[in-house]
Amino acid sequence: MPADLTFRNVTVVDGSGSPGVSADVAVTDGRISAVGEAGAGAREVDGRGMVLCPGFVDTHSHDDGAFIRYPGMEFKLAQGVTSEVSGNCGFSTMPNEPGRTYMGGDISGPGSNWTDLESYFAACMERGPAINNAMLVGHNRVRAHVVGLDKRLASAGELSEMRGHVARAMEQGAVGFSTGLIYEPGRYSDTAELVALASECRPFAGLYATHMRNEGDKLLEAVEEARLVAREAGIGLHISHHKSAGKRNWGRVKDSLAMVDAANAAGEDITLDVYPYTAGSGPMWQYVNLDRIDLEWAENVMIASCPDSHEFEGKMLPEIATRQEWSLEETVREIVTSPRGKEVICIQFIIEEADIETNLRHPKMLIGSDGIPELRGRPHPRLFGTMPRILGRYVRERGVLSLEEAIKRMTSQSCERFGLAERGLVKPGYWADLVLFDPATVRDVATYQDPNQEPVGIAMVVVNGQVAYEDGRHTGVAAGRMLRYRRAD
Ligand code: ZN
Ligand code: CU
Repeated sequence: MPADLTFRNVTVVDGSGSPGVSADVAVTDGRISAVGEAGAGAREVDGRGMVLCPGFVDTHSHDDGAFIRYPGMEFKLAQGVTSEVSGNCGFSTMPNEPGRTYMGGDISGPGSNWTDLESYFAACMERGPAINNAMLVGHNRVRAHVVGLDKRLASAGELSEMRGHVARAMEQGAVGFSTGLIYEPGRYSDTAELVALASECRPFAGLYATHMRNEGDKLLEAVEEARLVAREAGIGLHISHHKSAGKRNWGRVKDSLAMVDAANAAGEDITLDVYPYTAGSGPMWQYVNLDRIDLEWAENVMIASCPDSHEFEGKMLPEIATRQEWSLEETVREIVTSPRGKEVICIQFIIEEADIETNLRHPKMLIGSDGIPELRGRPHPRLFGTMPRILGRYVRERGVLSLEEAIKRMTSQSCERFGLAERGLVKPGYWADLVLFDPATVRDVATYQDPNQEPVGIAMVVVNGQVAYEDGRHTGVAAGRMLRYRRAD
C-alpha cells in the first residue's frame, strides 16, 4: 500500500535536538509511517534544499475566539504552527454562560453557545479548525463568571464554586490553570486564592501558567509568588512572556532566570516562554489607571485597533496627541473612555532587544506568540511573524540558537511540556504535523505598520497528515483537532 504523501531528499530536523539528516519521510493515515527510506507515495514531494521538521507549537496564544471567528487560522498556519495552547493570561472562553457578556476587552472573544471546555471544543470542531488547539482554563474568566468584576477577595462559597470550574476543565482535558494578575478581575485575588485554584490541577499534573503580577520593578517578587503558588499546589510552573519591562529594569531578566535556575536545581519544575519582539500588546484599558496616568508609559504606546477611531491605528500616542491638539494625558483618557474604549488594543514598546536574546539562550525557554487575533486593526506583528522570526532573525542572522535547538524548543520540548501526546517529533507512529521550509530564506515579513502579512520561506505545512498550506496558498483542508492534556487520540 503506498503512503499518502512522501517527502524525498529533505534534511530532516526531527525535533529531538539531533543534527539534521538527509532522509525520506512517508505519511500514511495522518501519521508518520517511515523515516529514512520510504516507499512510493500517492503524492511525492521533492524537498531538495529544504528542512522538514515537526509542526511548530505556539505555546502562548489568545486564539480561543479565533477558532470560532477564523477557523482557517491563516495567520498561524502560514508560520508553520500546527498546534497551539490557548487560554493564556487568565483569559479563556470557558466557563461560559451563553448570551452573557463578560469583559469588554476580553481578548478571547465573545461568548457563545458553549458552557465548558467539552462544549467549546465541540463548537470549534463544528467550524472545522485548520490547526490543533489545547487549552488552559483562565483565572480572569473563572472569576468574572463567579464573582463578576468586583474589586474584592472572593468569599468561601465563591472560591469553592471557582474551584469546581477549574476541576471540571481539568477533567475535560485542559492543560492547566492560567492567570493574568495585572488584569481585571484577577488582580483582586490574593495568593491563597491562586493556590486553591491551582491545586485543582494537581490530580492531573496540570500546569500553572502565569502572566505574573508584575513584569517590571517587582519582577523578582512576582516570580516568588508564582513559585509559591506552584509549590503549594504541587504542580509545574510556566512563566508566560518572560520579560523585564520598562527601561530602568532592562537587563534584569538575567536575575529572574538565575532564580529559575536555582529553583529548578533545587527540584522545582519551571519553564517559560517568550515572543521575539521588543513590544508587548493587550487591551489598553487594562494598563491604565485614570486617576494616575503614567506618561512615561504613554510615550511608548502605539494603537493597534480602535473601533471608534480607526485613524489612530498604527500611530504612537504622542503623534495622536499632536494631531488632535490634546495633551498626552488627554489622549490616553479620550481613547480609553470612548464608547468602545474597552475594545482598544495597544502595543507598548517596553522590552530590550538584548533581553530577548538572553531569554532565547535559556534552555527552558519556549516560544509563544502572544498574538491577539484582532485582524480589523493593525495587530502586533507577532501574530503573523513569531516562528519565522525565530528561524530567520535569531537562528540564521544572529546565531543566538542553532537551528536544531530552536526547532526542538518549538516542537518536542513544547509538546512535552504542554502534554500534546504523540506530537513534536518526526518519528514513525507520531501524528504527521510537519513543516517544510527553506532555511536560507525563511523570515517574518509582518511589521508594526503593515502587520497582516504572511512570512516567506515556508513551503508546506501538514496538519494531521493533510496538506493545509502550500506555496503561499491555504488549501482549506480543516484537519485540526482539539487536544486533551497528555491524552493520545
Ligand atoms: Zn499576558
Ligand atoms: Cu498573553
